Amino acid sequence: MRKTQWSRRAFMSSVGAFGAAALAFDPKSLPRVEAAGQSVARMTPEEVAADEFYWREIQLAFKLDRSLINLNNGFTCPMPGVALDSLFRYTEMINMLPVHYQGMVAGNSETLRRRMANEFGCDIEEMALTRGASEALQIVQNGIDLEAGDEVITTEQDYPRMLTTWDQRMRRDGIKVTRLQFPVPATQDFLYNMFEKAVSPRTKVFHFTHITNLTGQLFPVQRLSRLARSKGIVTIVDGAHALGHFPFKLRDLECDAYGVSLHKWLLAPIGNGCLYVRKEMIPRFWPLQAAPEQQDNNIRKFESIGTHPWAIRAAMGESLAFHQAIGTARIAARLRYLNMRWVDALRSYPRSKVLSETGEPPQAWGVMAVFIDGLDVRELAGWLRRNYRIVVVPLVGGAPPNSVFDYQALRVSPNIYTTLEEIDTFIEAMARAAKEDYLDEPEPVPAYPADVTV
Ligand SMILES: Cc1ncc(COP(=O)(O)O)c(C=O)c1O
Repeated sequence: MRKTQWSRRAFMSSVGAFGAAALAFDPKSLPRVEAAGQSVARMTPEEVAADEFYWREIQLAFKLDRSLINLNNGFTCPMPGVALDSLFRYTEMINMLPVHYQGMVAGNSETLRRRMANEFGCDIEEMALTRGASEALQIVQNGIDLEAGDEVITTEQDYPRMLTTWDQRMRRDGIKVTRLQFPVPATQDFLYNMFEKAVSPRTKVFHFTHITNLTGQLFPVQRLSRLARSKGIVTIVDGAHALGHFPFKLRDLECDAYGVSLHKWLLAPIGNGCLYVRKEMIPRFWPLQAAPEQQDNNIRKFESIGTHPWAIRAAMGESLAFHQAIGTARIAARLRYLNMRWVDALRSYPRSKVLSETGEPPQAWGVMAVFIDGLDVRELAGWLRRNYRIVVVPLVGGAPPNSVFDYQALRVSPNIYTTLEEIDTFIEAMARAAKEDYLDEPEPVPAYPADVTV
């Protein structure tokens, strides 16, 4: 790969001389992102977070619809141009002669396993590649032996699909599922004590999110994993939103299993996920689809799912390279910078209340939630969409089998391609809503999870 040597001065003068259009010559190229990285190499992640020259380069690496303002990156995220191109390339290549190329591409995914393990801090033999977090988590949720009366402790604010999976085991195997409720934002001590108090002699599993998909609430994973281990309890952590979002190493969490969506914050093509299983725990989980006995201790047993689109997995390698060219610390700092911009601006509107932790040190980054007292969030989300083309999701607790929580809020989740202008438009709109109430006929949009089935 050609490596462009940029000094910060040269980088900035090239931008200054030709304007943003100059950057658009090859907006998707990884070398340009690396060059931008060199130009800020001596700066802290927090300093880089405020460097618009740097982020302009990242913004141009995506093919987006900028006529909409996407503040709903808690869903799946667009992949960068390099990954999109790679996805087309692999699809074409495999299509030429599937029996030949499919096996080749499948075999090469061992490289991805190694790269993922190296980047996110675990042994290569502990990393399974899946099609998403639902698959990763259901492998371990359905794959652990539990007897009637055994208890799983989880929370009401866990992901509905994962709660549905435990509920099905309750119906099928007669296990007991305890769902804890907690206020938001909650302290790390509160969450720890909540689990500690709930443990009974029949508790066999703790299942919780690293950060929730609702308000971005962070959980004390290492402390809860140590508590669980001391009592012979297995820890399953839903890391759908955490990996690639803020810095940590998987092995440091000390949990037994950890499931991730890579089509969220790693910006991988849709249909990528991973499952970390602590080495000693691999034999404790049955794979979701049968694997031969010789693979009982092998992390690859979780990947035996038959024919599936290998191009999607292979193209994830470019998303990982793109991610590495920026670095998780810078990504986390930028996500927080973007969210804190509107959080700080809305402080002067007493009717608005943020439900995410905004203090220091940071405990929330790209996922935060806010409401405006007296305004219906479904209607507010519809009004933002209609009047400002802003895409956010309203959160309203639903009835079982969806989770029940007792607040309403808008989830606001920008991404590294979000511009300051987009955040400022959101601020302007929210300030107007907080001052004036509704300005036209309400047209509510569906809320999550109350109005959707996942
Ligand atoms: C917390 C959480 N867990 C699990 C999932 C499921 O992830 P996937 O869509 O990759 O299956 C999601 C998806 O939004 C999520 O937010």
